[in-house]
This record gives sequence, structure tokens and C-alpha cells, in this order.
Amino acid sequence: MSKKYSVIFVCLGNICRSPAGENIFRHLVTEAGLESDIFIDSAGTHDYHPGKKPDHRMCHTLESRGIPTAGSGRQFKRADFEKFDLILAMDTENFANIQRLDPGNQYSEKIKAFTSFCTNPAHQIPNVPDPYYGESDGFELVADMLEDGCAEILKNIKRTIKN
Ligand code: 4NP
Repeated sequence: MSKKYSVIFVCLGNICRSPAGENIFRHLVTEAGLESDIFIDSAGTHDYHPGKKPDHRMCHTLESRGIPTAGSGRQFKRADFEKFDLILAMDTENFANIQRLDPGNQYSEKIKAFTSFCTNPAHQIPNVPDPYYGESDGFELVADMLEDGCAEILKNIKRTIKN
């Protein structure tokens, strides 16, 4: 059996943006019938919430869109560079945090800004905004941005795994 294509979503706390990305992407991958071809995970660059479930506000936003949520918080670690083919940073701070773990730039080709995959011009900004300390509409914007970029990422991966 060939190795699964592996994707990891990375934010700061691994309880809002990156688990939302993981769950939205898994939903799309499952709808496409590709769950045996693609491995999906998420992590935080800090260890604020190890073992914690995704934030209830984020879960509520996704569940209202018909997307089930699961997961438990963990910190991004160096071994993830080998394990994953695509490492998606939710914002510039987390992009820099990931890069700091790869001082020789050995894995730089794998690290991408999540918003670089967004197709809606309103979402083509450097950061998926951190919704943790904000209002509930922040979670809707995060979910809109993640749905946009995840659809494009899946299109790209489908082309990669076909070849
Ligand atoms: P996330 O949001 O990075 O999207 O999971 C945050 C969650 C928790 C904290 C910051 C951001 N915190 O400071 O605890």
C-alpha cells in the first residue's frame, strides 16, 4: 500500500483554527471518498491546551454547517516535518514558529501559509484571524476562510495523488 498524503493544520493553541481546518478538510475528504488516501491532523505551536477538545464556540460554528468536530490539542514537534507532506500555518506568527524548528530550512518546501490557498479575494490576507478573544462572528469568518482554502487544497492534492 502506498503512503497516504499527509496534511497538518497548525495554529497557536490547537483549539480553534487548526482543529477547525482539520475537521472541515476531513469532511471534504470524506465526501470525496478519499479518506484512505489522505491523512489529516492538527497541532499548535504552543502547548497551552494539551489534550483539550476544540473550543465549544468553534465546534458550534462547524456543527451549524453540518461538519462534525473531533480532536484533542497537541503541540507541533520536529518529527512532524518528516511525517507530513503539507504543513499549513494559520498565520505569520505560527509560520515563523514552525520555521524556527527547522533552522536548516530542510523542510521549507512543505510549509505554506493557509491563506495562500484561498480563492475569495476577501480571504487573501496573510492571517486566518485568531478568534479566541473575539466575538462570535470571528468564528464564522474563520470557518468561511477555512472552507474556501480547504476546497482548493483538496483540488491540488487530488492532482498530486493521481500522478
Ligand atoms: P487557536 O486560538 O490558535 O486558533 O487555537 C487560540 C487558542 C488559545 C489561545 C490563543 C489562541 N490562548 O492564548 O490560550
